[in-house]
Amino acid sequence: MWDPTTYLRYGDERSRPFHDLVARIPAERPRTVVDLGCGPGQLTATLAERWPASRVVGLDSSPEMIDRAAALDAPVDFAVADLRDWRPAGDEDVVVTNAALQWVPGHQALLRRWAVELPACAWLAMQVPGNFAAPSHLALREVAGRPAWRAELAPLLRADPVDDPADYAELLTGGGCTVDAWETTFVHLLPARPTADHPVLTWMEGTALRPVRAALDAASWSAFRAELGVRLAAAYPVRQGQVYFPFRRVFVVARTGDRAQENQ
Ligand SMILES: C[S@@+](CC[C@H](N)C(=O)[O-])C[C@H]1O[C@@H](n2cnc3c(N)ncnc32)[C@H](O)[C@@H]1O
Repeated sequence: MWDPTTYLRYGDERSRPFHDLVARIPAERPRTVVDLGCGPGQLTATLAERWPASRVVGLDSSPEMIDRAAALDAPVDFAVADLRDWRPAGDEDVVVTNAALQWVPGHQALLRRWAVELPACAWLAMQVPGNFAAPSHLALREVAGRPAWRAELAPLLRADPVDDPADYAELLTGGGCTVDAWETTFVHLLPARPTADHPVLTWMEGTALRPVRAALDAASWSAFRAELGVRLAAAYPVRQGQVYFPFRRVFVVARTGDRAQENQ
């Protein structure tokens, strides 16, 4: 289950890659704009501001996220849907998926299918976190592998589910797209207060720790959290009241081919 309030605790930091991604889509008057895995919807609403004449759709598999999104009262059609089942209807000139595909094993096959099924000259823009080898995730896997938790958590621990930018570029170029792919490591400066939890722990509770929390009872979760907090404090020491949290992200903006020309 997703908790929109926990997820939005670092809303400013989490929104930055979305804006960097969308800035690279030069579409002027897209007919329909779709945000797959739209979460709490505040970023999807910015798509409606950018393209006020377009139909904007936000889809997410979490009812809690869609409830939060619908409460924004933005000019966006929000609905609960699994992005794996989504298929272009023919007028989606822009498709955005931000920080969602890392939750979808085998998403590379979806990207390839969308590249083929989207209309001619459409924009497909994605961003995924590329931080699965970061100290935060190494600490998570290390603590989850300890005897106290291994049985419950081993099935949940994902190997790196995302590719490098060059791999996505190759995949989508092979699907007939023109591709712009890059990576950025953001250094988030997270305030650390002496009486509060370590900020990287708080950050991870909004995303990567959700499945762990769901799998453990209250006592185990509390012990797990404490142990992970110790490791994170060592990996990300507090300096002058803040923590420097590097976060690598992978971006791809692909434009589908001009099918008329391709068919000549
Ligand atoms: C980290 S949040 C990102 C939300 C939003 N795109 C943003 O940038 O703030 C990941 C979202 O992906 C959604 N998600 C994960 N798997 C999904 C799937 N198979 N279909 C639709 N949404 C999915 C989750 O419910 C969650 O809201």
